[in-house]
This record gives sequence, structure tokens and C-alpha cells, in this order.
Amino acid sequence: MTRLTNDVDSLNELFTQGVTDVLGDVVMIVAIIGVMLWMDVRLTLVTLLTVPMLFAATTWFRKGARRGYDMVRTRIARINAFLQEHFAGAQTVQIFNAEAKSLQKFEAINDDYRKANIDTIFFYAVFFPLVDFIGAVGIALVIWYGGYRVMNGALTLGALVAFIQYSGFLFQPIRDISDKYNVLQAAVVASHRIFKTLDLPVAIKNLETPLKSGRARGYIEFQNVWFAYKDDDWVLKDVSFAVSPGQSVALVGHTGSGKTTITNLLMRFYDIHSGHILLDGVDLRDWDLQSLRENFAVVLQDIFLFSGTVESNIRLGRNDISDERVTWAAKEVHANKFIERLNHGYRTEVKERGAGLSVGQKQLISFARALAFDPALLILDEATSSIDTETEQLIQQAIERVMRDRTSIVVAHRLSTVQRADRIIVLHHGEIREQGNHQQLLAERGLYWMLYKLQYADGARSQAVTTLPTDEEEPAPATGGLQFSE
Ligand SMILES: Nc1ncnc2c1ncn2[C@@H]1O[C@H](COP(=O)(O)OP(=O)(O)OP(=O)(O)O)[C@@H](O)[C@H]1O
Ligand SMILES: [Mg+2]
Repeated sequence: MTRLTNDVDSLNELFTQGVTDVLGDVVMIVAIIGVMLWMDVRLTLVTLLTVPMLFAATTWFRKGARRGYDMVRTRIARINAFLQEHFAGAQTVQIFNAEAKSLQKFEAINDDYRKANIDTIFFYAVFFPLVDFIGAVGIALVIWYGGYRVMNGALTLGALVAFIQYSGFLFQPIRDISDKYNVLQAAVVASHRIFKTLDLPVAIKNLETPLKSGRARGYIEFQNVWFAYKDDDWVLKDVSFAVSPGQSVALVGHTGSGKTTITNLLMRFYDIHSGHILLDGVDLRDWDLQSLRENFAVVLQDIFLFSGTVESNIRLGRNDISDERVTWAAKEVHANKFIERLNHGYRTEVKERGAGLSVGQKQLISFARALAFDPALLILDEATSSIDTETEQLIQQAIERVMRDRTSIVVAHRLSTVQRADRIIVLHHGEIREQGNHQQLLAERGLYWMLYKLQYADGARSQAVTTLPTDEEEPAPATGGLQFSE
């Protein structure tokens, strides 16, 4: 954000108040030196003796100020990030009574920012008086050498006075340019940061002539897929499975076992390290990227709504989706009832990130979105948050409706969703442990069976939904839900 706003601003400043003046200054310097040379070459050379001094001072200043500016920029970025995060997460801060701590943290980074500014200002505080001093030395040299030559009769007094004036003129534009340095420094640092962002390589590239585009039938195949987010930290290890068109597959496994990762790979947010992922028998890397992603409807773990109307969130920029289709989709997933109860129905404004709607409502909207797009494949990363029973039922029906007639990959946390899937894939630390339908897996008495048993033991509340816990072995919880133990 800082790169896009503050940094671009300082580039802007360079153009609005820097460059043109500097050009004028340079012309001025060249002209004055020319006139001085024409008047008296030797005296000019004496005046210019100060140039190396000026050069040394500028070099020192340039290095210091540049480093300072770099620091200022990084630290203002940190402040921006901190503020953004804490405005968004204000409630969490309040819940945990962490106001004082947050304030302390803010004061610390704000302090760093101030220090960086003061460090930078130090260079200015020294540099400008130094330039003035060097200018004074220059004039002293002129008076000393010129006076000597006037006494010898080699120079007229008038010429000497003129020379003193000229050296004064000479230092003014030099001083001005140094002053502009302020703006220039900021701009150089800013453009470094901007270009660093612009030059980031695009990791996921579309082939120049993609082999495949258009609507997919929905045949998915993973062949010995290995994947890591960083280096050799394998998140998926030799994963192979296939899903026929129209089939639904449920991915289950404890938290961090790689379920969401599989869905990310399917939409090619990342490229895999080895193996193949095929859609309709064609490697994802040979698919036209836009076309590939158009084939998926995605309902993610945490739903993202944009500011705009309910309607525009269902349509999400696809203007070819008609109003009728929007209302149809909403009705199909039973979202219409609550939408119609809103102040302005489908035209109700949704605030930033869907504030003002409940989690369940946001989910229903995202299901309507998926249905309105009518893609060949559905990816559903089930939310783990509990919602009231009524909405829960609506959502289950919505899931069923959206899954109909298309290939679906569902990261399932609800047992009901799992049971309904044609096939269940049990992931464990990035490896496929078990595969089969509900009955088969129960008969195997493996990981899935354990999960089911824990769930079943909770009796009446077996339909409750909770997050899968971490790998650590924990006693069976009293609240119910899907549980994995090692
Ligand atoms: N963007 C990322 N960069 C680096 N590591 C990641 C990233 N996303 C996930 N991981 C790591 O990959 C592993 C698998 O994560 P993944 O999100 O696939 O888990 P999951 O099975 O979906 O878990 P959950 O049930 O909690 O959603 C985790 O160990 C996680 O720390
Ligand atoms: Mg996940």
C-alpha cells in the first residue's frame, strides 16, 4: 500500500517541483562559469578550487541521506501496515484487552520512524551550512588571489568586484540543486521500491498458445503430485487421485494436512514441483489460465465480500449474468428470504468485507454466486465456524444444490457433507492415507473410522460442527464435531 501511495506521491513531487528548476540551475551554472572564464581564466580556476570540496560533501550527503530515506520509507510502510491491521482487527484487540500492548507497539514503531527522520535531518543540518561555508571559502580565495593581482596591477578593481559577485551567483544555484536533492533522494528511494514491486517475476505464466480453453467436462487427475510452499518443506507428498465428471470428492484430514493446498493447486495459484495435475486430460499448465479459472466456482473457508450491493457481490463483475439469474440463484440456495428482508433487498449496500451480514448470510451469498456462475467444477472449502441450526440447514441444502451436476471437491468439516460425497479422501501430513466411500472407510477401521467413532460418541450433538484440532492428541471433546487423533 505504501508503495502504491506514498512512494508514487514522492515520484510525483519530483516532477511537480524538482526537475524544471534543476534544469534552470544547471544552465545558470554553465553560463556563469563561461562568463568567468571569458573574464579571467586563472581567477576562475582559483574559484573552482572549491569544487572538489563540494563534490566530497555531496557524496557524503548523498550516501547518508539515501540510507536515511530508505529507512524512513520502510518504517512508514510498517506504520501503515500496523494501522491497517489494527483498524481491521480492532475488535480482536478489544476482546483480548490488548489496547495498551498495541499502543506500546505502535509507539515503538512510531518512535523508530521518528528516529529515522531525525537521522536523515542530521545530514541536511550539516550539509547546507557546509555548502555555505565552502561558498565562503570560494569567495575568500577570489578576494585573496584577485586582491593580490589587483595590487600587482594585473587586474582592475572593477573586474575583481564583478568576480566576487559572480562567485556568489555561482553558489546560489549549486545550493538550490542540493536543496532539490531532498526531493530527488526521496524519489530515487521511492522509485527503487516501486520498481522492485513492478519487477517481481510473474510466477504463474500463461502459455503463449495455450493448448486448451473453454468449458471443461470436469475430469480431474492428480498424478504423483509433490508440492511445497517453501523449499523442501513438502506439504503434499506423492498425491494421486482422480475424480470423474459429475463426481463429488470430500477431502478430510486434520488441520494443516494440505486440503486447502489441493484446491489452490487446482486453480493454479501455485505450480507444483513434480508430477501432473490434469483437467480433462490436459496438464493445468497447458490450459489457458483465465479459461481454467472460469471453470471453477469457489466457496472459500473465509468468505470475502466486496463493498457494493448484495447483487453485485453475487454477480462479481460478470455483467452478462442477468437480474433474473441472480434472483434465481439466490432462490435456489435459499438466500432469497433473508436478502428480501434486508432494507433494500438485492440492492442493499454491503459494507467493507461484508460487515453487517452474519457469517451464515455471507456463506449463502457466496453459494448463490457459485450457482449464478454455473461452472463445470466446484471447490468448496467448508467454513468451520458454527452457525445457528436453521441457517446450518439452509447451508446444507445450498451445498447440495450447488454440488448437483458438477464435479466437486469439497474440503469437508461437516459429517453430513462427507457422507454425501461419492468418495472420501483422507489426508494425513500431506499424504493420502485412505480413499473410498463412507461405508468402505468405516470398514477399514483406520483414520476415518476413528474420526467417525469420536463423532458418534458425542451422540445427540453429532451434527454440530467444529474445527478440526491440531495434530496434538487431545481427549474427546464434550462439544462434538470431527476429530482426528494421531
Ligand atoms: N501460503 C502459504 N505459505 C506457506 N505455507 C503455507 C501456506 N499455506 C499453507 N501453508 C502450509 O501448508 C500446510 C497445509 O496447509 P493447508 O492450508 O493446505 O491446510 P488445510 O488442510 O486446509 O488445513 P485447515 O483444515 O486448517 O484449513 C500447513 O502446514 C501450512 O502451514
Ligand atoms: Mg484449509
